[in-house]
Amino acid sequence: MIVILLTILLCGAILLLLYHLQLYFIALYFSYFIIFTTLIILIFIFIEVYRVIFKGHAPYICSSNKLIKKIIKEINFKPNSVVYDLGCGDGRFLRQLKKHKQIQGIGYEYFLMPYIIGQIYNLFSKNKVKIKLKNFFKADLSQADYVFCYLITDEMAKLEKKLKQELKPGALVISNTFKFKNWQPENFIVINEKRKNALSNKLYIYKK
Ligand SMILES: C[S@@+](CC[C@H](N)C(=O)[O-])C[C@H]1O[C@@H](n2cnc3c(N)ncnc32)[C@H](O)[C@@H]1O
Repeated sequence: MIVILLTILLCGAILLLLYHLQLYFIALYFSYFIIFTTLIILIFIFIEVYRVIFKGHAPYICSSNKLIKKIIKEINFKPNSVVYDLGCGDGRFLRQLKKHKQIQGIGYEYFLMPYIIGQIYNLFSKNKVKIKLKNFFKADLSQADYVFCYLITDEMAKLEKKLKQELKPGALVISNTFKFKNWQPENFIVINEKRKNALSNKLYIYKK
């Protein structure tokens, strides 16, 4: 929200400055640029709302930094292990993890906007991870040592079957907030002890 407000203020200030300097032509093209960018963002928001409401897909909401730090602290990721983030958004979980642990990160994301944002972050990050623009239900998960996911109930039901079929014995699944219907978690981690009943405050750990 703060970033959006600051961007609007910055664009307004640049426009005012351009008019003040009587650079009307540049101001006009800058206005076209702002309108074009706003339209693109609105189209992406529209697609996202449509996907979530009518197709039952998980929205592009990122796991919090606090949660990611907790996972890094609590889970003993083995060196050189392969970590998948199914529905990785912009890939921030894998990048953060790679900053602290020596892992190979692979993320699947089928929505174009977070995928592009993830590739841009990757360009400037020392902890680059592989992000594939693909439906993870079509991916082979047999090489995964760890799987992380933050999805919604409908997708969890389908994913449960796939993980049980494809994961190698000993692989660990970490699910943010949502549980599998028929698979009992080995353990769970509370993110924030002070907000015990909050909606998104638990990680469920499953072992194949
Ligand atoms: C709630 S976000 C979680 C993002 C990231 N894992 C995190 O925790 O920060 C869920 C993401 O999964 C993506 N997604 C949902 N179903 C998917 C599928 N079948 N294949 C690929 N991506 C999917 C959505 O587009 C969305 O960006």
